[in-house]
Amino acid sequence: METAPSKEAQLGSTTETGSPAPSDRNSLTIGPDGPILLHDVHFLSQMAHFNRERVPERNVHAKGSGAFGVLEVTEDVSAYTKAALFQKGIKTDMLARFSTVAGEQGSPDTWRDPRGFALKFYTTEGNYDLVGNNTPVFFVRDTMKFPHFIRSQKRRGGSGLRDNHMQWDFWSLNPESAHQVTYLMGDRGIPKTFRHMNGYGSHTYLWINEAGEKHWVKYHFHSNLGVEGLTGDEATRIAGEDADHHRRDLHDAIEAGDFPSWTLSVQVMPYEDAKTYRFNPFDLTKVWPHSDYPLIKVGTMTLNKNPDNFFAQIEQAAFEPSALVPGIGFSPDKMLLGRAFAYSDTHRYRIGPNYLQVPVNRSIVENQNTYTFDGPMAYDHTGDQPVYAPNSEGRGYADNVGEVEDGWETDGAMVRQAYTLRQDDDDFGQAGTLVREVWDDAQREAFVQTVAGHLLGGVKSPVLERAFEYWKNVDAETGKKIEEAVRRQRRRQPRR
Ligand code: HEM
Repeated sequence: METAPSKEAQLGSTTETGSPAPSDRNSLTIGPDGPILLHDVHFLSQMAHFNRERVPERNVHAKGSGAFGVLEVTEDVSAYTKAALFQKGIKTDMLARFSTVAGEQGSPDTWRDPRGFALKFYTTEGNYDLVGNNTPVFFVRDTMKFPHFIRSQKRRGGSGLRDNHMQWDFWSLNPESAHQVTYLMGDRGIPKTFRHMNGYGSHTYLWINEAGEKHWVKYHFHSNLGVEGLTGDEATRIAGEDADHHRRDLHDAIEAGDFPSWTLSVQVMPYEDAKTYRFNPFDLTKVWPHSDYPLIKVGTMTLNKNPDNFFAQIEQAAFEPSALVPGIGFSPDKMLLGRAFAYSDTHRYRIGPNYLQVPVNRSIVENQNTYTFDGPMAYDHTGDQPVYAPNSEGRGYADNVGEVEDGWETDGAMVRQAYTLRQDDDDFGQAGTLVREVWDDAQREAFVQTVAGHLLGGVKSPVLERAFEYWKNVDAETGKKIEEAVRRQRRRQPRR
């Protein structure tokens, strides 16, 4: 990894091409009061490079913070996966980046939003990226809806303002969002710090063991500090005082040697169960009840090193659910399959086609042999070796045919349809369980106040009435309380 210049080198500075810099104080002029000269190439390179100092911010999850660490596997899960990083006793270096979703780079850390929980493991078999959130579910279940969802959470075309009306318009027209919106408006909607939140792979993934046997898995990273949230009022106050509250907390904790850690567990579903389970286990709006598939401990993830340079190592970090290793595969989750395309594509645009050559994104595998070449900023090369495969000059290539180790069976005509409904598939059931069976009275009461407050922030008819219906479908009692709270407040403060 690139390091800062040595003390001796810091005494003077150099031009970009390595010769002594003439001056970092004064530009070259005709006399002290005269015009600047075009051949002051050091001045020109400072100006020109400055104009190119930023890369576009991530379209989503733009505001984030990260740190390096290690995953240590303490349990034997080889019955489920042969992936090298998940073998007992193995320690793997890794990078984590935590983020909000909708806000831009300078936005406050404490806005209500799901938090990204993106992990990159530098394994001996290639990079493994697990790009999840601090909630186990998501707002939609088909990738086709993702850009529409995100635009509804960002800014209006006309005013450039974020708009609660637009958010509820989307949510209430897409009732599969109910489970995730329930999490969002509950106490996980604003974590106390990044250290006090859980992480989830959220999707169902496939694990394959040495014998080729397959299981479906879901990842859970439980914070060893416990899950704690901020109230809306605390978060609003902090947003005004320190927009970087979570970034500062993570940095300062690690700097002080107070390393945050998470216990990694998985839920494992036998491959055949998925075919007949009572709801679609690949639907990203659902969790698997722990009573059906209990947590199996895997190991511990600890963050123990801050970045040396934020831009190089966090801003240029490129996480992609497509980065898999042997022993781990995709599932038929339509969201996951869409994400398999989206991330590498956006990195090629945001950072450049050779983003995987940037040190923070490089795999540690030696003697890599890819058949991708050239492009802007190409650093790795293969000399005069053949650039095509197959070839007769001894340069290896993948020649596998036949069975796909990490595949699954499917059949049917091509269609554009929602998932086939199973007995327990619906949009509201699990959200209702969260409200009624997981939360206590205080959490339910805070939830009603949060939702009502959000709806009072400019949500108009008929979206408002649809939102009341939405919550009554989640839980009749809670929905009624939300409606009453909004109507009560409206009577007190007539519409502006
Ligand atoms: C299926 C539709 C989705 C699409 C098309 C999509 C697309 C994207 C894109 C384009 C980025 C910006 C990446 C970059 O510029 O570096 C991003 C970031 C991110 N997404 Fe998604 N996303 C989807 C769903 C999800 C889901 C379901 C999760 C979590 C379970 C998720 C978690 C994240 C995280 C954590 C990041 C930030 C990664 C980082 O820290 O750099 N996304 N997504």
